[in-house]
Amino acid sequence: MAFTQDELKQQVAKAAVEYVKSGIIGVGTGSTANYFIEELAKVKNKIDGAVASSEATAQRLKSHGIEVYDLNSVDALDIYVDGADEITEHMHMLKGGGGALTREKIVAAVAKSFICICDETKYVPVLGKFPLPIEVLPMARSYVARELVKLGGQPKLRDFTTDNGNVILDVHGLTIQNPVEMENKINQIVGVVTNGLFASRGADVLLLATSNGVKTFKR
Ligand code: 5RP
Repeated sequence: MAFTQDELKQQVAKAAVEYVKSGIIGVGTGSTANYFIEELAKVKNKIDGAVASSEATAQRLKSHGIEVYDLNSVDALDIYVDGADEITEHMHMLKGGGGALTREKIVAAVAKSFICICDETKYVPVLGKFPLPIEVLPMARSYVARELVKLGGQPKLRDFTTDNGNVILDVHGLTIQNPVEMENKINQIVGVVTNGLFASRGADVLLLATSNGVKTFKR
């Protein structure tokens, strides 16, 4: 039976709720994460609350009656649940399609386990077909764009301001054979806040919704 992409996102969101035990949960941003919030709301009595990776997610959590904590008031998170724009068999991800990459990376860094929830369209052999988002301080925009061209990409300014007041350059035309190296290289460019490669710290668990059910991969 063929499912729509939205049905696959719903299925994987349901599967992720099995990982919710207690305490405070890190919650990502995007349409798949939104389906997860709907499922989380059904088991909200099990948890104390959540840390959000964006203002949009915080609003959505609150609208479901889930308490939202400031990350600074939380010492540890057992799990962070979020989608991705692309993910490989090595659990390297490309993220930031929704522009929330910086807060996503911060919340993920605090979590013991990153649970990535994706439909099968996101599972790729090599990262880079989806334009790589880079959050940049506004005054560094042109300089960073020139440096990204030197790395072989074609940066385009997104018409968007991040929750942190910065801009996003979406870098087209990259074939990212070594995501850890590329993540580190881009981080060295002055003015870059965060890049959308989540490779040095990839996913710990991938729940992948396919037409044959949700498959689980572990690092
Ligand atoms: C937002 C993200 C999202 O996880 C990513 O864009 C996937 O989104 P969706 O679940 O809507 O396909 O990184 O910054």
